[in-house]
Amino acid sequence: MNKYILILPLIFYSSLVGASANLELQTVLIDLNNKASLQRGAKIFMNNCFGCHSLKYQRYVKFIDHLSLDQETIEKNLIFTTDKNGKPTKIGSLMLNAVNSDHSKESFGIMPPDLTLIARSRGPDWLYTFLMSFYQDESRPFGVNNKLYPNVSMPHVLWWMEGIKKPINSDLSEFEYVKKGNITEIEYKQSTTDLVNFLTYVSEPAQLDRYRIGFWVMLFLVIFSFVAFLLKIEYWKDID
Ligand code: HEC
Repeated sequence: MNKYILILPLIFYSSLVGASANLELQTVLIDLNNKASLQRGAKIFMNNCFGCHSLKYQRYVKFIDHLSLDQETIEKNLIFTTDKNGKPTKIGSLMLNAVNSDHSKESFGIMPPDLTLIARSRGPDWLYTFLMSFYQDESRPFGVNNKLYPNVSMPHVLWWMEGIKKPINSDLSEFEYVKKGNITEIEYKQSTTDLVNFLTYVSEPAQLDRYRIGFWVMLFLVIFSFVAFLLKIEYWKDID
């Protein structure tokens, strides 16, 4: 009996190691305080992803505070949709797109999911790895497959930036580029990091408010401790 108890942690440990090896996630270093990175990420998202994926819990107007953008820049560069009357979508609106579910089921077999909360459900590393894992596969409807999400029904929309890579061996361990993108590999990694940074911010915008408030709370605590310290000296002065 004792023997089996000793083996149990080993089995548990090996299953953990097995699970992480299967995932092979790449680590992404994001920084929610880096406004320039969030702005670049927003631009990439609105130009390349928003056509299919909405951000239905986010409002454009939040970008004024959170991304340090002014109203005019947002209206000119990030709002591409129109409302029911054909007027440009208002800045206070939710970030919905015009995807028609029947049409997308026909094209992709599935409706592209809303991505507001994707960074919370999948995690930034997963998103980064997903965007780095597209490769050429002629057997798929869009000519690409994804190593992390096999048989995904999304085209590699950023191929014009990354280029297209093809597996060298059948276990998908090595790739070579067969088509060049318009930026270098390092720049693609940087752009993907910006995009993941943006999606992480969108999944929990209150995080930025917490950072800002947190700073003032810490400052208050420091000043308060100092005052308490002075008070203590004052009170104990005559006792010693
Ligand atoms: C042409 C339409 C289209 C565009 C543009 C597009 N996607 Fe997708 N995307 C899809 C479809 C369809 C799926 C569902 C795939 C599936 O489940 O097989 C999907 C799935 C995803 C998923 C996986 C969601 C999940 O957890 O199941 C992520 C993440 C994603 N897309 C991110 C992006 C990003 C980031 C961009 C912009 C760089 C983008 N997509 C652009 C159609 C699109």
